[in-house]
Amino acid sequence: MKVGVGKKAAASSAPSPTRIEAIAAVAEYLEAAGVADGQDEARALLRGATGLTRLELALAPCAPLSDEESRTYSDYAARRAAREPVSRILGERGFWTLDLAVAPGVLDPRPDTETLVETALSLLAEKRDAPLSILDLGAGSGAIACALLSELPAAWALAVDLSAEACAATVANLARCGLANRASILRGRWAEALQGRFDLIVSNPPYVRTQDIADLEPEVRLHDPALALDGGPDGLECYREILRDLPNLLAEDGFALFEVGFDQAAAVAALLAPVGLQIESVARDAGGHERIVAARLLPTPT
Ligand SMILES: C[S@@+](CC[C@H](N)C(=O)[O-])C[C@H]1O[C@@H](n2cnc3c(N)ncnc32)[C@H](O)[C@@H]1O
Repeated sequence: MKVGVGKKAAASSAPSPTRIEAIAAVAEYLEAAGVADGQDEARALLRGATGLTRLELALAPCAPLSDEESRTYSDYAARRAAREPVSRILGERGFWTLDLAVAPGVLDPRPDTETLVETALSLLAEKRDAPLSILDLGAGSGAIACALLSELPAAWALAVDLSAEACAATVANLARCGLANRASILRGRWAEALQGRFDLIVSNPPYVRTQDIADLEPEVRLHDPALALDGGPDGLECYREILRDLPNLLAEDGFALFEVGFDQAAAVAALLAPVGLQIESVARDAGGHERIVAARLLPTPT
């Protein structure tokens, strides 16, 4: 796509479009390509292409785009029309209070996952300043670990992921957030090689049923890695594998929190008791779905 307004855009002598004209043209183009929120996304892409803040754009909507800005904006618009997410085009996304880098081959963190952070912080409300130990299984971009460490000033985290790209992304995001000195990263399979007891264990494992992956939106199916999505035939395989080791790693008064698919809370809760865990709470996401299952150890019989 060439950013501009109507046929004028194709002519080399045509004046550069203004910011607001370019946004309108791109919004229309994105909506025709099936992007639901064309206006907002066109604005976000223009800010990315020009480096403008929201305020700068609001104060000068009629300034013309430079040739380079037009070229970059056209490139971004074409990528978005091909259903690449805005966060991947711009290489970053807001998560919790942080600006995280979004790396190719690593799951783009989602707003739903902020519910996990919120739930953990509320369960730990009395211990916010304690030297808590946190284990993040399947750290991906490091979003959960970064958000928790940013709120728990004396905590330390171990982030585990099987993917080399995810481990590199976690390292980069911890450094970007100034949290690298309170975290270690381990490439490995869930809790397989771990010892010790953690005050908080968090995981947002892959939970999409294998047969449902083909039906996901192109933004997810084409851009998030299969290793971050595929939860096996019933979507629960990773929970079963993680739960096998979990009771040996959870502190006596610790909490384990799992993000689950919108219809999986009951099924995941049913996996707890057989391994010696009990349900603490189930939290809903902003859309009203049961999204976070919190658990703790069953009391040991006296
Ligand atoms: C749904 S993503 C979650 C990423 C991040 N925690 C978040 O919430 O945005 C699941 C992560 O689990 C990792 N993973 C998948 N299988 C794994 C395994 N067997 N052991 C460790 N990590 C695994 C994937 O590489 C991916 O980064």
